[in-house]
Amino acid sequence: MDIESLIAPNIREMKPYVPGTSVVAMAQKLGCAVSDLVKLDANENPYGPPPAALQALANNTAFNYYPDPDQNALREAIGKYVGVPIGHIVCGAGGDEILDLIARMFLCPGDAIIDFPPTFGMYAAAAQVQNVHYISIPRRADFSVNVDAVEALITNYKLRITNEKDGQALIPKPKLLFIANPNNPDGSVVSEADLLRLLALPVVVVLDEAYIQFSTQPSRADWVLKYDNLIVVHTLSKLIGLAGLRVGYGVFPLTVAAHLWRMKQVFTPSLPGHLMAIGALSDPATLDEMGRKIVAERNRFCESLSELGWIEPYHSEASFVLCKINKAFVGPDGQPDPRPRGLVVQQALEAQGILIRFFNRDPLRDCVRISIGQPAQMDRVLAALRML
Ligand SMILES: Cc1ncc(COP(=O)(O)O)c(C=O)c1O
Repeated sequence: MDIESLIAPNIREMKPYVPGTSVVAMAQKLGCAVSDLVKLDANENPYGPPPAALQALANNTAFNYYPDPDQNALREAIGKYVGVPIGHIVCGAGGDEILDLIARMFLCPGDAIIDFPPTFGMYAAAAQVQNVHYISIPRRADFSVNVDAVEALITNYKLRITNEKDGQALIPKPKLLFIANPNNPDGSVVSEADLLRLLALPVVVVLDEAYIQFSTQPSRADWVLKYDNLIVVHTLSKLIGLAGLRVGYGVFPLTVAAHLWRMKQVFTPSLPGHLMAIGALSDPATLDEMGRKIVAERNRFCESLSELGWIEPYHSEASFVLCKINKAFVGPDGQPDPRPRGLVVQQALEAQGILIRFFNRDPLRDCVRISIGQPAQMDRVLAALRML
């Protein structure tokens, strides 16, 4: 039996989401210790969670029991941190699970979503799993969202849309739009005026604020109380330093939260995730201090990059910097290096144990994304770049 032929076509055809590298695999490849690596390819927090998180874990030994399915203590801690009543909050195994749940909850095969590439790949992946139409409204050259195009599309949705899959087809009115603020991979933010224009449209706005604590903008989590078409997604993987624990949450209109409880896996996040999240959130001063350190280091790093002259950082309000490489490299034989520029930089840094992301497709051709680490780690990056 050809079991593969039974797999749903949309899953068989899926382009995989490419996550950051496994440090264990990379240390094996480079023949070094994991501790020698500088991991700057997945926007993780280089400091780890506040000590209170580890303490909370150490104080509990009841791992033979399931976590609280109502997530009451966890949602209390989050509600206090983010300033919304706990009825609006549902937690899951990372922001990724929340995004997946939102897609599964709203989308039937044949529905449509709007995405603003280049952006976080999980929105497109969720659309593909649900077998829905993916309407791409590319960001402008400065990575801003083309709100005029969204308004034109939604208000005149009978427009026939041409895309690869359907040719000229009448695509149903999009139900959801996903918008990362700040955006990954460039770190740009959407203005309040643009967000208000999007919220005025008859579409559910999924606002992914994974990096909001590194931005000058406030979180819009409490806007969910005002706008019944807004969902805000947060993660504890970034500033809060718990990427390995898989904790994230959504702030939902109450009616939506009620439906979500019925469909979500009962026991995500894990018990260690609950405990460490509650511990970390009990120490907002340490979290704020860590955020300030990462932002200060981001600004110092960008200034140093600008001094190099050939690598141009884009303005970022997140914990990473997208950089354009304005230099043609020459190979050891004196001939132009045939590899894409981003790959040259990524491989040169990897050889020194520094892991970053490179991109090779427009509009990110010749770009790399570097997460912000501790100052000594960023000095290692700068030293490696100076050698190129
Ligand atoms: C924009 C954005 N949203 C959500 C996530 C998911 O975070 P997690 O699933 O670790 O909570 C990430 C992770 O990199 C991200 O960049």
